[in-house]
Amino acid sequence: MTTTFPKDFLWGGAVAANQCEGAYLEDDKGLNISDVLPGGSDRFAHIVAEIDEKNYYPSHEAVDFYHHYKEDVKLMAEMGFKCFRTSISWARIFPTGEEIEPNEKGLRFYDELFDECLKYGIEPVITISHYETPLYLAKKYNGWASRKLIPLFEHYCETIFKRYKSKVKYWMTFNEINNTLRLPYLAAAIDIKNKDTSWFGDAFQASHNMFVANAKAVKLCHELMPNARIGCMLSLSNVYPNTCKPEDIFETYNFRRRSLFYSDVMMRGKYPGYSLRMMEEMGVKLDIRKGELELIAKYTNDYLGFSYYRTSNFASNVEMKYNTGGSVGIDNPYLEKSDWGWAIDPIGFRYTCNELYDRYQKPIFIVENGLGTVDTIAADGSIYDLDRMKYLAKHVAALREAIADGCDILGYTWWGPFDIVSAGTGEMKKRYGFIYVDKDNDGNGTLKRRKKASFDYYKKIISTNGADLALPEK
Ligand code: BG6
Repeated sequence: MTTTFPKDFLWGGAVAANQCEGAYLEDDKGLNISDVLPGGSDRFAHIVAEIDEKNYYPSHEAVDFYHHYKEDVKLMAEMGFKCFRTSISWARIFPTGEEIEPNEKGLRFYDELFDECLKYGIEPVITISHYETPLYLAKKYNGWASRKLIPLFEHYCETIFKRYKSKVKYWMTFNEINNTLRLPYLAAAIDIKNKDTSWFGDAFQASHNMFVANAKAVKLCHELMPNARIGCMLSLSNVYPNTCKPEDIFETYNFRRRSLFYSDVMMRGKYPGYSLRMMEEMGVKLDIRKGELELIAKYTNDYLGFSYYRTSNFASNVEMKYNTGGSVGIDNPYLEKSDWGWAIDPIGFRYTCNELYDRYQKPIFIVENGLGTVDTIAADGSIYDLDRMKYLAKHVAALREAIADGCDILGYTWWGPFDIVSAGTGEMKKRYGFIYVDKDNDGNGTLKRRKKASFDYYKKIISTNGADLALPEK
């Protein structure tokens, strides 16, 4: 069956403020939780801290998008982007998270960025919080474990919705909210120091608080911007049973539901029965206040945004580990892996799109997919990034199949269209971009941008609306 992509399909790219902007204290910005993560540090058990001058923090300058955004948006426009996903850095707008008045300089930056995108017909797709809770809130309240963050987030949403309502039509609340159970510091600003497994209680409570905040954001968004759409966002790289042993099959299903529980609540408006059992078995008792369940039921998300990078195998007797790409279990002998050990699985991508559309019957939006690799610069200065182009070709082909299967897909944003700092490891070496940025792991480099071979390749994919996937000759 031949299928093409819908005429208005949103091809584009995605980044997060804290991984590209730099300017980490400029124009009165406050610190966010990602600003205190040195390169290579543990993203899971991080202890909420101050900046230590002895450490190097790659994100402090990152690729200085704050001052290079015009050049970067122009390059993305040249590739034909229809949309660009980025986040608003909460601490640029409210430096501690508790101010009443927003920081005008921070607001102005995003005004200018969105205007620049719109000038080229690029729709901004905005994540309201992408691992960027203000550090002050993490330290004072233990992040989202406290319901104090709900009204603060609501005030932040109201401020940015009112300011950008004529510029932004696609919103998402929390990046990879299901990582609250896997990377609790990044996803929910929870410090899990010395808490063994009791942090699960905080993580579930944080999830509930974020569900309430999400519902309030949906309500506000629909009231203030009737033509806008607001999604939730999950990390949904998938997991397969390692064997056909019934225990492996069922427990894989249950394991997957530790993620899908988040979209079940936000897309369907209700805690599913299996999630109540899961919490009971973990000894978790949620503090749910009057009216909150009704709010969650009434204000569900308009679409499901998700990241997909890979798959992994699950077995009932193996402990799963996690990183930014999803869960890590047993290697799949049928799949090749990236330089960072992430299995490459385009059929898993088609499978995931179908799984999610079957489950919710609401539009889905692939807001992250990509390959982090080491780039080699040839003597003439060119970069022929064949592995990246192959990954892209296979995943776009899988997406086309998913559309032919009947999935309603709003768009596809490649992760890191220009090189940025890795969220999982703080490296620059792990590059996703079609545009190379001259900066290394130790902070050396001119920040000069240059096109890789994949630049023209993605441009061709977009201009043919996904029809021509033929790889270029070297
Ligand atoms: C996702 C995050 O988990 O994975 C991004 O939303 C992140 O912020 C991306 O960058 C890729 O992970 P990494 O660790 O390679 O940067």
